[in-house]
Amino acid sequence: MGKSIKGLVLITGTTSGVGLNTLKPLLRFGWEVIAVNRSNKRAFEIAQKSLTDSEMKNINFIEIDLSNLDDVRNGCSEILKKFKKPINSIICNAAVYKPRLRKPERSPQGFENSMAVNHFGHFLLMHILLDNILSSEKEIDLNGRTTKFKPRITVLGTVTANYSELGGRIPIPAPADLGNLAGFKNGFLSPISMANGKRFKPGKAYKDSKLCNMISVQELSKRYSKERIIINSIYPGCVAETKLFRDTPWLFRFLFPIFQKFITKGYVSQRLAGERVAQVATLKEYAKPAVHWSWGNRQKLGRKAFSQKLSNRIIDTEISRQTYELTRKLVGLD
Ligand SMILES: NC(=O)c1ccc[n+]([C@@H]2O[C@H](COP(=O)([O-])OP(=O)(O)OC[C@H]3O[C@@H](n4cnc5c(N)ncnc54)[C@H](OP(=O)(O)O)[C@@H]3O)[C@@H](O)[C@H]2O)c1
Repeated sequence: MGKSIKGLVLITGTTSGVGLNTLKPLLRFGWEVIAVNRSNKRAFEIAQKSLTDSEMKNINFIEIDLSNLDDVRNGCSEILKKFKKPINSIICNAAVYKPRLRKPERSPQGFENSMAVNHFGHFLLMHILLDNILSSEKEIDLNGRTTKFKPRITVLGTVTANYSELGGRIPIPAPADLGNLAGFKNGFLSPISMANGKRFKPGKAYKDSKLCNMISVQELSKRYSKERIIINSIYPGCVAETKLFRDTPWLFRFLFPIFQKFITKGYVSQRLAGERVAQVATLKEYAKPAVHWSWGNRQKLGRKAFSQKLSNRIIDTEISRQTYELTRKLVGLD
């Protein structure tokens, strides 16, 4: 590496797709990385294929299965014990998407699994590590100048969770919508599988979990001042070839990238998506609070990121406040 290390960035889900492709730019920018995955062995072997030996020296692997809240607690304790310096930036990236399930899969605590992994696991992880990250403000060399690096959290959101965008209104199987949160209010355990307490729709369960991710960003930003921490979300574009789509029919997997490349023009390579995530999580120009960073749904060369308008389902104060507070209870923080 040669140059001095700026600080510590934690990222979840680095065995494929966006997370894997975020590693290289983070290391290139001079950060030490904590890669959180459900198997250290797999994560190490996969990272080794795309990174140099000297880059590998700056990655630490921590095992957490985000579907299991006990695992999140244990993994976070390990992190707090192992690293003497606080974490400067957290990237909540890992996710599961299983649109063909007939019955919900359940997490070890009995919750519908995509909500458990994508939202609950990350929500608990962020909150356990919050005091640590809040203590991390330090001077670093950014773009050749010494500057204060404010603690930062970046959460992967998506267009299909944002009703303000066309992609957020796709009715198959239904747009993201938490309704009156009856599922959360009633404990979210079997037979409940959806936040709104209604019938299980696996594709919607994923969208709802991403909606919860984006609500968490807005709610945390209200609770923790921008003087102390920058919390935002990002839609890096349609990264149509990642393993996220592994449970879709093979014909969909074949046609989806073509459709995104040539029809919607929303296609983004995994490499560019990783670069964008690393930038939003670490560069000064993205240090604005509560922004949902996007490059738009039609990708244009050289286009700059902008703050995407969010739907009321994300910023609606009552439902989002309740989502935040009910999640605190469901993950055992209250
Ligand atoms: N692809 C897109 O078009 C797109 C668009 C917008 C937003 N996003 C968001 O971008 C993020 C990354 O998606 P991707 O497309 O890169 O998907 P991906 O290739 O499927 O990567 C998902 C990562 O999450 C990890 N993961 C899954 N379950 C886990 C668990 N229980 N505990 C810990 N890690 C777990 C996976 O690890 P394993 O190898 O262990 O399964 C993998 O490393 C997601 O948040 C997704 O919602 C993607």
